[in-house]
Amino acid sequence: MKILVINGPNINMLGIREPDIYGRETYADLLEKIKNYADKKGVEVEFFQSNHEGDIVDKIQQSYKKIDGIVMNPAAYTHTSVAIPDALKAVGIPTVEVHISDVDSREEFRQVSYVRPCCVACIKGHGTDGYCEAIDLLLS
Ligand code: DQA
Repeated sequence: MKILVINGPNINMLGIREPDIYGRETYADLLEKIKNYADKKGVEVEFFQSNHEGDIVDKIQQSYKKIDGIVMNPAAYTHTSVAIPDALKAVGIPTVEVHISDVDSREEFRQVSYVRPCCVACIKGHGTDGYCEAIDLLLS
């Protein structure tokens, strides 16, 4: 089983950006946590982070027939992108949407997710543990 973890814009700024909302763990801490968890579960994991919508679309397309599941925090693109859900539909790879914060209890614009209908589940507000929960969901 090979899982691709995609993080959208500013997730690489974890630990620095708005720690009251996103916590003090850094992006490096996040990758280490996911890698350790995936190793325990015998899952191969690949990481991709980009601030550019088109690069995320390219990565999803390149995953066709190469990746068994996607764990995806599209960050701000969750609320704006049509191209990302179109790419997910094109490749048909089971995807779990993850948000560190509880987007549904924040500003109204964050309560809109264009990717949600293309995902098998959405985990929000569980901090960075949500990424590990997403791996479990893809395994089950
Ligand atoms: C986020 C929530 C988004 O609204 C925001 O733009 C992010 C992070 C989260 O993980 O809680 O960048 O996806």
